[in-house]
Amino acid sequence: MSGAAPLVLVARELRPLLEGEPEWPRGAGTRWISREEPFPADDRVVALVPLLSREIGPVELDRLPALEVVANYAVGHDNIDLGAAAERGVTVTNTPDVLTEATADLTWALLLAAARRLREGLDLAASGRWPGWAPDQLLGMGLRGRTLGILGAGRIGTAVARRAPPFGLELAYWSRSSSPEIEALGGRRVGALEELLQRCEVVSVHLSLTEETRGLLGSEELSRVADGSILVNTARGEIVDPGALARALREGPLAAAGLDVYPDEPEIPPALRELPNAFVLPHVGSATWQARRDMWRVASENVRRVLAGREPLTPVPPTTGERRDPADPGPR
Ligand code: DGY
Repeated sequence: MSGAAPLVLVARELRPLLEGEPEWPRGAGTRWISREEPFPADDRVVALVPLLSREIGPVELDRLPALEVVANYAVGHDNIDLGAAAERGVTVTNTPDVLTEATADLTWALLLAAARRLREGLDLAASGRWPGWAPDQLLGMGLRGRTLGILGAGRIGTAVARRAPPFGLELAYWSRSSSPEIEALGGRRVGALEELLQRCEVVSVHLSLTEETRGLLGSEELSRVADGSILVNTARGEIVDPGALARALREGPLAAAGLDVYPDEPEIPPALRELPNAFVLPHVGSATWQARRDMWRVASENVRRVLAGREPLTPVPPTTGERRDPADPGPR
């Protein structure tokens, strides 16, 4: 590192959430970087707080030779090459827990919107052409007595499951390890993904994005879901093939979907945007003031701890690149 004061490189988009300028150990200053700016080369940067849209791989890491920590402003960390970080001795951290309840609430908003055809209802109400109440108008799915299938029983999947009993939904889940909490709610662990897809009228995705979960729900899987069922995805768009999803929504067997995430954000595949039975949102799962401020609190505390030579609050375990079980919910 040059003799100049160290710097913490922080996503500029976080600034409106902050009260005052951040303070860092070792007299470090803050350098802000916006989404549009090219990634800098700077040997003063000792810590980085990126958004999930910033890919951090060997090229970026090599531009910051003094880097000690990447404190991702997200619970997911699929934007970071963990192996490359570990090879360079860079600690990676994320923001679990603080966004769990907000994301579980939004999952339920999507689930209810899809089940009760809220997009079509909104469009009809806004069109000025509503003909009046009718017994067969916009009939959706009643939830009581149906089964909600949770893919990935991590923190968010479990929080979603916890909200199911008051709606009268049975629970099933597919996960690498058993979840005592979901089982205490009456949930049954299913050994095969296919079985879960066939048995459940509502399926909600809560897996991390890994090489094993990328494209996990493709044409074949989506053609085997229960007829008239609903898919909700608030995890990562790459887990569900968007073309296959659009087909399953257009031609069946899916009745509806509630989506918050897409493979090439900010693009939302036009086929999904246009389908009346797809309720699509722009990646707002954790978008509450409380969650987003708490994410900053955790990320910045992780930076402070690493720079002070202490253990971070929420480290992401370094990966050796071994294959993971796709049913592993990871850190979500
Ligand atoms: C995350 O944290 O990974 C979400 O996708 C955004 O809050």
